[in-house]
Amino acid sequence: MDKARLRVLVVGYGYWGPNLVRNLVHCPLTQVTAVCDADVRRLAKARGLFPFVETHTQLDAALQAGVDAVVIATPVSTHYPIALRCLDAGKHLLIEKPLTRTSAEGADLVARAQRAGKVLMVDHTFLFSPAVRRIKQMVESGDLGDIFFVDSVRINLGLVQRDINVIWDLAPHDLSIIDYWLVQVPARIAASGKSHVNNQEDVALVTLDYDKRLFAGLHVNWLSPVKIRQTVLGGSRRSVVYNDNEPTEKIRVYDRQIECSADPEDKHRVLFDYRLGDMWSPYVGTGEPLQAVVQHFAECALHDRTPLSDGVAGLRIVQMLEATDRSLGLAGQAVPFLNTVEAPRLPLAA
Ligand SMILES: NC(=O)c1ccc[n+]([C@@H]2O[C@H](COP(=O)([O-])OP(=O)(O)OC[C@H]3O[C@@H](n4cnc5c(N)ncnc54)[C@H](O)[C@@H]3O)[C@@H](O)[C@H]2O)c1
Repeated sequence: MDKARLRVLVVGYGYWGPNLVRNLVHCPLTQVTAVCDADVRRLAKARGLFPFVETHTQLDAALQAGVDAVVIATPVSTHYPIALRCLDAGKHLLIEKPLTRTSAEGADLVARAQRAGKVLMVDHTFLFSPAVRRIKQMVESGDLGDIFFVDSVRINLGLVQRDINVIWDLAPHDLSIIDYWLVQVPARIAASGKSHVNNQEDVALVTLDYDKRLFAGLHVNWLSPVKIRQTVLGGSRRSVVYNDNEPTEKIRVYDRQIECSADPEDKHRVLFDYRLGDMWSPYVGTGEPLQAVVQHFAECALHDRTPLSDGVAGLRIVQMLEATDRSLGLAGQAVPFLNTVEAPRLPLAA
């Protein structure tokens, strides 16, 4: 056994699990020992691609396969019971977004992982995207000035989930990106949406109202015929448009803004002017974010470090999602965001 490698069990080999296994197999710090899925047809697919990996339908048997860590890529409602068994068995955990179905479950996992001295990381994949990292640098360096708004659109013909609505499925991406960029939590959250294909909302709008002048809006939608993955971050000095569908120029920086000044002839009047400056596209790397996710998880587990997207960060996002549920129940009325976990402390570098 190569002691420098983290031996990993992947639970859930549906849509996302194969991407995790592929990246774990190619990561120099990890060795995929076993794959567990309740569906034997999914396991046959895993064996076809990775014949050296043990496959199991039962979690308890899979945990005996000689593993140091477990990656959980099952439906959200199953994350908590599976994670509990893995922590009881003394394993480090990488759990798919969102961490859990409730904040009580998430808080319990955070506490148990801390007590056990095990790494608990959430796959907030986009925090490991070179474009998102580059924008974080711009926010931190003050290049953009004060941030006024975030406007994000994440829509396509989606994989309709049975146990969660479109907000719980897609908004964790935007919420975790915004949380990482802004390092502050909203004061109020509002959500409205409608269901068309099953009983869960499949189109929705979410707004995050921060103290002072900052405001964020998210559009998430499983029914859109076109795929849009675009986020606009508006600052007092510059603004950024992040288009994740663009193969190369994912970020465009705009030196454009409305400027106001007092009218020299009438001090009670304000004059508005448009600054129409340059637009440019800074270089960002091309690495696959999920490869960086699994590498970071392995480094944290092997060297006892706290992950960038740890359980606390995952719990904060679950609390925001719960606030959207409360707002949906009140026909879209804004609800206070009750942040009971410690303030964000996300560093720039993983
Ligand atoms: N990070 C990302 O960009 C991203 C993208 C897609 C999905 N996800 C997340 O990945 C997770 C899985 O989503 P998916 O779309 O792959 O779902 P899926 O339904 O396609 O696959 C889930 C798999 O888990 C298996 N499973 C269910 N319960 C199980 C259990 N108790 N024990 C063992 N196997 C079990 C199912 O048989 C299925 O093969 C979700 O948390 C989702 O939010 C993340």
